[in-house]
Amino acid sequence: MIDFDAARAILRSNDLGGYTVPTRGLYPFQWNWDSAITALGWHRFDEGRAWREARTMFSGQWDNGLLPHILFHHEADSYFPGSEIWGANSRIPSSTISQPPVWALAVARMLERSSAGDAARAEARGLLPKIVAHHRWWYRDRDPGGSGLVESYHPWESGMDNSPAWDGPLARVPRVEWEYQRRDLGHVDQAQRPSRREYDRYLYLIEFLKHNEFDPCRLSAGSPYRVVDIATVSILHRATRELIGLCRQFDLESAVAELEAELARTQQAVNACWSAEHRCFLNLDKVSGAPLRERTTATLLPLFGLLADAEQASQMAALVEEWLTASRFSLASTHPESPRYESQRYWRGPVWLHINWMIADGLRAYGFDDLAARVKAETRRCVEAAGGYFEYYCSRTGKGCGGGDFSWTAAVALFWLAD
Ligand code: GLC
Repeated sequence: MIDFDAARAILRSNDLGGYTVPTRGLYPFQWNWDSAITALGWHRFDEGRAWREARTMFSGQWDNGLLPHILFHHEADSYFPGSEIWGANSRIPSSTISQPPVWALAVARMLERSSAGDAARAEARGLLPKIVAHHRWWYRDRDPGGSGLVESYHPWESGMDNSPAWDGPLARVPRVEWEYQRRDLGHVDQAQRPSRREYDRYLYLIEFLKHNEFDPCRLSAGSPYRVVDIATVSILHRATRELIGLCRQFDLESAVAELEAELARTQQAVNACWSAEHRCFLNLDKVSGAPLRERTTATLLPLFGLLADAEQASQMAALVEEWLTASRFSLASTHPESPRYESQRYWRGPVWLHINWMIADGLRAYGFDDLAARVKAETRRCVEAAGGYFEYYCSRTGKGCGGGDFSWTAAVALFWLAD
């Protein structure tokens, strides 16, 4: 049995007044995509609080449209690297990269389900120009060459920090030589976290962004790490579709043609990522130009993005079936047959609820209802087996891993598993 009262209690206890921390201790600030997903959970029992979450997030938007991946609303020494390392010059101290843009989608869903009528419409209307500015930032600053496929300059921008897909591109990045103290290992077992080797390079890239003054042309020309993350491409694409609907609804027609042109560009470009051999869309290494052959759940997200054609979708559905059979607990984030699969280590194999929600949603959109229901039922089993809302779950045993009392996991239970 799933305890939905406990899920609501987690959001309430992670509420720091206007924003919800992912979990106390390990992640003590406001994270961008966590916050969007968490807002969807809030919306099921406190609509006003859900809109407030969005307003607080967008209060930290940069003038150029970037919506940072972390807003450091207050000081906390339980997290590293803090705002002084990032070197942002922003109204609210923040990181200098973004995260997969879920907000347009969250706002569209909240508006659809709202019982608050005019109040909800006023909230959406207030947010809309900011979300448009954020999507413009993605298409302009993360795709300066106008290729149709946005790129990222830090693995954390994908939200899938230590995905095995990034191993090759990250190996090219120099390591920082200064000493630092990680704080994550004070909260979670080392066996479930990224390695020191990875952290040295994450920090190098943060400094690289700062030395290049976050200038998109300099980053695109010179970053040692440049990757097309197919998950971000897919989420952005789906969110832009939703955004166009919102713009029409709120008479912001001026943005529509431009956003439609971006959709068309991506739709055409994405076929460069399709691999008939792998039966999914692969991430790309922009430095070498090579596809990244690792099958991670990111490679299934074009279903959610509505970017696959009918034939590609049916090949992907067959792959999902095999993948489910190979994972003892629902959809391991790396295919269990990969030599790099690790069932408990963060983005290298565990089960993440919000990603499974997206994949199930995509499967349903293409008519694979039974398979979508299976993904959902097996995801539910993780929460039941672990008896709580953890950051993620071991795909071999169902054990809860990472941080406990985790906001987005509780939220996904409320808006997806409870339905
Ligand atoms: C980790 C995750 C990222 C998430 C953040 C806060 O960095 O990889 O996706 O947003 O934690 O939960």
